Amino acid sequence: MLIRPETLADRPAVLDVVSRAFGSPAGGEPVEAGMLRALFEDPGYLAHLSLLAEQDGAVIGHVICTRGWIGTVPALGLGPLAVDPARQGAGVGSALMRGVIAAGRSAGERIICLLGSPAYYHRFGFADARSLGIEAPDPRWGEHFMALELSGGPAAAGRFRYAAPFEDL
Ligand SMILES: CC(C)(COP(=O)(O)OP(=O)(O)OC[C@H]1O[C@@H](n2cnc3c(N)ncnc32)[C@H](O)[C@@H]1OP(=O)(O)O)[C@@H](O)C(=O)NCCC(=O)NCCS
Repeated sequence: MLIRPETLADRPAVLDVVSRAFGSPAGGEPVEAGMLRALFEDPGYLAHLSLLAEQDGAVIGHVICTRGWIGTVPALGLGPLAVDPARQGAGVGSALMRGVIAAGRSAGERIICLLGSPAYYHRFGFADARSLGIEAPDPRWGEHFMALELSGGPAAAGRFRYAAPFEDL
């Protein structure tokens, strides 16, 4: 399995994996796929932090971090993360997470924030963002809003703001 940045040519396959991973009760495109399309066009898009997993030439997973902010301090917002339903439970998501964390750290980023299941993200070092002094965009998210410091030092304190397309989710 190869983890690498996506290119323009990969986007249809990436959107297909994201659509199938999240599914949609109505059979249409899930909101996460629509949001990813918007993130690709957003000023917060960071090409080196949009990674796919590839096996035998097929896209089997994708993760993206985009520019977010804690006050005036730049931060990363992670998501969506998606793995082909036929390939879940085999370490693809973990490889994507480790890849994007390493890429963020190499790029000098200070912190990654995300909304998700603590049972999944704790294994990568994410903790309740409130324990780091970071507030969720919506306080009702509670322990599901998590953060990981990359630089070692205190990153910033205050309310986190995602790239604009997250507001439509
Ligand atoms: C969540 C997801 C990305 C995980 O990818 P994956 O390749 O299946 O994950 P891995 O193989 O690396 O890890 C599997 C482990 O994660 C756990 N896990 C998977 N999804 C989970 C979830 N939603 N909540 C908690 N744990 C979860 C599995 O139980 C398994 O645990 P174990 O290692 O203790 O047995 C994938 O299941 C997926 O695409 N789901 C649909 C989309 C989604 O929910 N994305 C995340 C939004 S926050």
